[in-house]
Amino acid sequence: MPKTIKKVGVLTSGGDSPGMNAAIRAVVRTCAYHNIECIGIYRGYQGMIEGDFKEMGPRSVNNIVNKGGTILKSARSLEFRTPEGRKKAHENLVKAGVDALVVIGGDGSFTGGLIFNSEYGFPVMGIPGTIDNDIFGTTHTLGYDTALNTVVDCIDKIRDTASSHNRLFFVEVMGRDAGHIALNAGIGAGAEEILIPEEDLGLDRLLDSLQKSKASGKSSSIVVIAEGDKIGKNVFELKDYVEANLPEYDVRVSVLGHMQRGGSPSCFDRVLASRLGVKAVESLLEGKSNYMVGLREDKVTLTPLEQAIKGKSEIDRELLRVSDIMST
Ligand code: F6P
Repeated sequence: MPKTIKKVGVLTSGGDSPGMNAAIRAVVRTCAYHNIECIGIYRGYQGMIEGDFKEMGPRSVNNIVNKGGTILKSARSLEFRTPEGRKKAHENLVKAGVDALVVIGGDGSFTGGLIFNSEYGFPVMGIPGTIDNDIFGTTHTLGYDTALNTVVDCIDKIRDTASSHNRLFFVEVMGRDAGHIALNAGIGAGAEEILIPEEDLGLDRLLDSLQKSKASGKSSSIVVIAEGDKIGKNVFELKDYVEANLPEYDVRVSVLGHMQRGGSPSCFDRVLASRLGVKAVESLLEGKSNYMVGLREDKVTLTPLEQAIKGKSEIDRELLRVSDIMST
């Protein structure tokens, strides 16, 4: 028989993403709704090791549904990767009377949770929070929709300058290992080409495409590049390369960087966070552990954490074709 859960700990870990606060709020209020206690753990697993905890009641999460970042702060804890670190973390949880954990983060955070569970049998539930959308078992991670809207908004602005000066812009977006942001925001913002880690376009095809675009009468262009793309040159080297090979182009670079991780979450991310938070706590109360809550076909579902970590969140290849057709 699983132990009855009376107190849930919640933490955010890894890169922050818009919607994490809405998820914290959902976890805290679902606990209150079911008359169990909730504690917030600051700075992810590092706060667990240091016992940096705070009791959280439903009023402690007022006015955060609309806020970016995470009120619990986030960290990538090296100490939690050691057995000694995890032992300290476990001792602190036991001392504080915590019976189960909700981990809001990406696959690194889930791996930590899974190891912790295997060592101490501690119930763990994951909520996917990362702008990259690179987690298997959910069509959307928290913050992805907001990041897409931020990127599209930025590129719309860049387009004004691109078209006024007949320029080519390389816009670098986040996505270390995944091209979801580049591909979707690129289509949404009307990019000429989109370079993603999942597919190496190749320098020749890029030049060819830019040449065709000039020949077809386009006077300005936007190329969206994921930071982890495989073309073999960084965005500044790419600018030099294109200017050397296609001198008719006046190229500028814009690296959007961390602004993509900030800002008020979109309505979609707030609703998603609320749904996932409810499901995470209620699944723990049902005695479940080692799952990630996620969205599939607009239904909230559970995916074993191990699958969520090992599986790959594939890009939709049809989107590549759509992008090609749109740049005709
Ligand atoms: O995983 C989210 C992400 O924003 C990636 O897209 C990016 O490569 C990375 O985090 C940046 O991490 P940091 O903020 O630690 O530099």
